[in-house]
Amino acid sequence: MEIRPLSPHTGAEVLGIDLSRPVSDADCAAMKRAFVERSVLVIREQALQPRQMLDAVGLFGTVFSQQNTKFAVADCPEIHYVSNQDRFPDGRRYIPGEGWHTDHSNAVRPPKATALHAVRLPDKGGDTQYANMAAAYAALSADTRERIGPLMGIHIYQSSHSARKLIALSEGDKERVPNAVLHPLVRTHPESGAKAIYINPIRIEGILGLDHKEALPLLDALLEHATSERFQYRHAWRPGDLLMWDNRCLLHKANGDYDMSQVRYLYRVMLQGDVPR
Ligand SMILES: [Fe+2]
Repeated sequence: MEIRPLSPHTGAEVLGIDLSRPVSDADCAAMKRAFVERSVLVIREQALQPRQMLDAVGLFGTVFSQQNTKFAVADCPEIHYVSNQDRFPDGRRYIPGEGWHTDHSNAVRPPKATALHAVRLPDKGGDTQYANMAAAYAALSADTRERIGPLMGIHIYQSSHSARKLIALSEGDKERVPNAVLHPLVRTHPESGAKAIYINPIRIEGILGLDHKEALPLLDALLEHATSERFQYRHAWRPGDLLMWDNRCLLHKANGDYDMSQVRYLYRVMLQGDVPR
């Protein structure tokens, strides 16, 4: 097994391992280390069925149950799918994940990681972009770090300020999903100890104790800073890629920039995380 960096700060590719077979303790430990250090792991040339993906990703933690059960894979409901073939009730195509976000930050314990495995990809396009929130935090001025350090963001299922709309939850799913949770705007990674900006444009409704006139421009400024190109890694998918990324210190976004007559279909599974602190 070989691990190589994919950009100066984010991403590492893992070559020469087959996750459908038993993984040695040494390889497992090396991948876990790389995951914490590089935030995105790209494990190449896998061909995993849903159950095998669950076992492979389970090497890194405990599976998190996902919010909208509409997207569960029939014979393995812990695995969801991401597809360009779903539509809103009004017939418009739904491209999941467009717009910068971190997954399920409206949970009390948001998932620490999300994994995607490419089943079908378009010939070109459909990249996933990542922005490194720890690098972005480190580049903030001391004044800004001091200002945002004590602030708490209010996260809900769908922010009223979000341009991107999600597919509605069923009544049953709504009962399991909390109304609103508070998370710090700056969180400390429980494994690396690094501080990172923790915002989520699709789910942050406001900042505790600040009115919108103050909170929204601050959130906009943080987002603009944090998603500047120098903090990004852009992943161009290859068949067989199994990606796993760290939601605690990254934002990510999908791109619906490809030929929509081609199917893009991936399996998704998430891992449980801690209460952000
Ligand atoms: Fe996402």
